[in-house]
Amino acid sequence: MLVHLRLFRYNPEAGRNKPSYDTYNVEADPTDRVLDLMEHVKAYNDPTLSFRRSCAHGVCGSDAMRINGRNLLACKALVQDVGTEITVEPILGMKVIKDFIVDMEPFFESYRSLSPFLINDDIPEDGKERRQSIEQRERFDDTTKCILCAACTTSCPSFWSDEAYVGPATIVNAHRFIFDSRDNGAEGRLERLSEEMGVWRCRTAFNCTEACPREIHVTQAIAEVKKAITSGRLD
Ligand code: SF4
Ligand code: F3S
Ligand code: FES
Repeated sequence: MLVHLRLFRYNPEAGRNKPSYDTYNVEADPTDRVLDLMEHVKAYNDPTLSFRRSCAHGVCGSDAMRINGRNLLACKALVQDVGTEITVEPILGMKVIKDFIVDMEPFFESYRSLSPFLINDDIPEDGKERRQSIEQRERFDDTTKCILCAACTTSCPSFWSDEAYVGPATIVNAHRFIFDSRDNGAEGRLERLSEEMGVWRCRTAFNCTEACPREIHVTQAIAEVKKAITSGRLD
């Protein structure tokens, strides 16, 4: 089948200092991914086309893009699902550096601000590992699946209206440690998330949950953090 591919382009260093679109007709199979089509264009039409990708299997989180208006991983978006008229644009709310490459630094700065690592200086009495029951591990299992692709944060209307909002991805990764029975840093994280640009900027729009390629219940995780703040409990 012939796919009509419309690609966002922007490259101020090469004189393309206004966003525009280039179009390509590419022969494809229904099971080809949008990433395959973009690789084809880069190999055979325009080697300057720039985008991030690494694993090509939905694991590294580097190729979140707006495909026909929806945030998807290009390596998981099949032609048979998105159709033969395909418009691809960079994720929204991030500064575009070149074509599909956006400045992810503010996203990772927000992520780091919630200390996304285990905080616990206590040594277990037996000097061995910190034990956890199956139930305790299950409590935060869903939010361990995040691949930091930013599809959730860049689909969130609260983030679009104010980029200072920490965003759903940061909250998901804070959730992963807040509800970990081995961690002692919940108080500080909840304090930070109760600030003006924390969880209360979330208006329960659900775009984040729809966008998440790992099917994490993002809105639910945010609701659990809100409940922990108001109740002062972590159950
Ligand atoms: Fe991506 Fe989902 Fe993690 Fe958000 S929660 S960054 S959409 S994997
Ligand atoms: Fe945004 Fe998700 Fe809340 S889309 S408003 S963070 S439910
Ligand atoms: Fe790694 Fe798509 S290239 S998630």
